[in-house]
Amino acid sequence: MSAPQQMRAWQYTNNRGGVAKKLRLESNVKVPKPSGPKEMLVKVLTISLNPVDHKPAETLLYHFTFSKPTTPGADFVGEVVQIPPGCSFQKGDRVFGTAKNAFAGGMLAEYAIADTDRVVLLGDITPEEGAAIPIAGLTAYQSILPRVKPKSRIFINGGSGGTGTFGIQIAIAAGHTVTVSCSGRNAEVCRSLGAEVIDYTQSTLFQDLKAASIQRKFDLVVDNIYTTPELFWKAHEYTTKDALYVLTPFTPTSPSFMKHFLPMKLLPRFLGGGQRKLINFFSQPDLDQLTQMRDWIADKQIKVVFDCALPFEQAKQAFERIATGRTVGKIIVKVAETRSGEKDRDSVRSLDT
Ligand SMILES: NC(=O)c1ccc[n+]([C@@H]2O[C@H](COP(=O)([O-])OP(=O)(O)OC[C@H]3O[C@@H](n4cnc5c(N)ncnc54)[C@H](OP(=O)(O)O)[C@@H]3O)[C@@H](O)[C@H]2O)c1
Repeated sequence: MSAPQQMRAWQYTNNRGGVAKKLRLESNVKVPKPSGPKEMLVKVLTISLNPVDHKPAETLLYHFTFSKPTTPGADFVGEVVQIPPGCSFQKGDRVFGTAKNAFAGGMLAEYAIADTDRVVLLGDITPEEGAAIPIAGLTAYQSILPRVKPKSRIFINGGSGGTGTFGIQIAIAAGHTVTVSCSGRNAEVCRSLGAEVIDYTQSTLFQDLKAASIQRKFDLVVDNIYTTPELFWKAHEYTTKDALYVLTPFTPTSPSFMKHFLPMKLLPRFLGGGQRKLINFFSQPDLDQLTQMRDWIADKQIKVVFDCALPFEQAKQAFERIATGRTVGKIIVKVAETRSGEKDRDSVRSLDT
C-alpha cells in the first residue's frame, strides 16, 4: 500500500468556543512525511477520544504550544504504510498507541505519523478495542496497580468514564475490591463490571464513603473527578494510614484548579494539611503495559465499555459528546473502513441508537 499525496483531516485554527465548535473537515491536506529515525507513516483506522484531546487545547496553552492548523486525536489504531530503516514493524502491520505528543494529537486524519517506540501490534483485538486502550487504559493501570498491596480496597471517584471502567476491571482482575462513585443512571454499568456503587447524585459522597468504610477502610483513592476537595481533606476518616490519594485530572492553567490543588499539595500536615499523601498523576507510555492490556482484552479478562462509535464524517459530534463530560466508557471515531470479514462490534452503538 502506498499513500496518496493528499488526504482528509479534521482541523481547527482557533479555540474560541471550544474545539468541537471550531473543527472543520478539510479535504486537501498534505499527507505528512516521516522524517525522524523512529517515525513511520500509518493509515489511521480508528481513534478514541479522551479529555486530553480538547481540554489543554481550550486553555491558553493552545496559543503558545500548538502548531496550527491543529489536527486533534491522540489514541489510534493504524496500518503501517512506510517504515524507517531497521524498524521491527512491517508494512501492513496493524498497530495501536498514542501520538508522540498527546496534547498536540494529529491522529484524526486519514494518514498520520506514529513513533515506532510508542505503538504495539494490534494482535487479536479489534480496531475499536485497540484505539480505546492507550490513555484511559494506562491511566487506570498506572494509577492503581503499582500503588496497592494484594487484596486492597480501592475507591475510584468517577467509575463510569473511560478511565473508571478500565480501572474497575483491572483492579478486580488483580484481586482487589472496588467501590466507585457514579450517577444512578450509570450504576448498573459499574456494578456489572464488579464494583460497589455510591450514587454521587443522591447523597453526600463523603458521608457515604465514611459509612462504607466502617467495616474496612480504603487502601487507595483514585480521584478521576476532583470536584470535591473534601474527599482529600477528610481522607483520613475513610482510608487506612498508608493510603495514597491519586488525582488524575491536572489543569495547571485553570485558576480554580490551582486554588484547591496548591494547598492540597503543599500544606504540611502539622499546619493543617491533608493527612494522606497526594499524588498528582500523569500517565506514561509503557509498551509492556499496553501489550498486557491488549492481551487481557483478547483473553476476555477485561472488556472495553463503549459509549459510541461514529464515522469519520461525524467526528465533530464525537468532540461535542466528550466535552459534555457524560461519556460512559469510550468514544470511538472510525476513520477508515476496516478489512471485510472483521467481527462486528454489537456493543458499539452510534449516537442516534
Ligand atoms: N493525568 C493523566 O495522565 C490523565 C489521563 C487520562 C485522564 N485523565 C483525567 O481523568 C479524568 C477522567 O478521564 P476519563 O477519560 O475517564 O473521562 P470521561 O470518560 O470523560 O468521564 C466521564 C464520566 O465521568 C462521570 N462523572 C462526571 N462527573 C462526576 C462526578 N461528580 N462524580 C462521579 N462521576 C462523574 C460521568 O458520569 P455521569 O454523567 O453519570 O456523571 C461520565 O461517565 C479526566 O479529568 C481526565 O482529564 C488524566
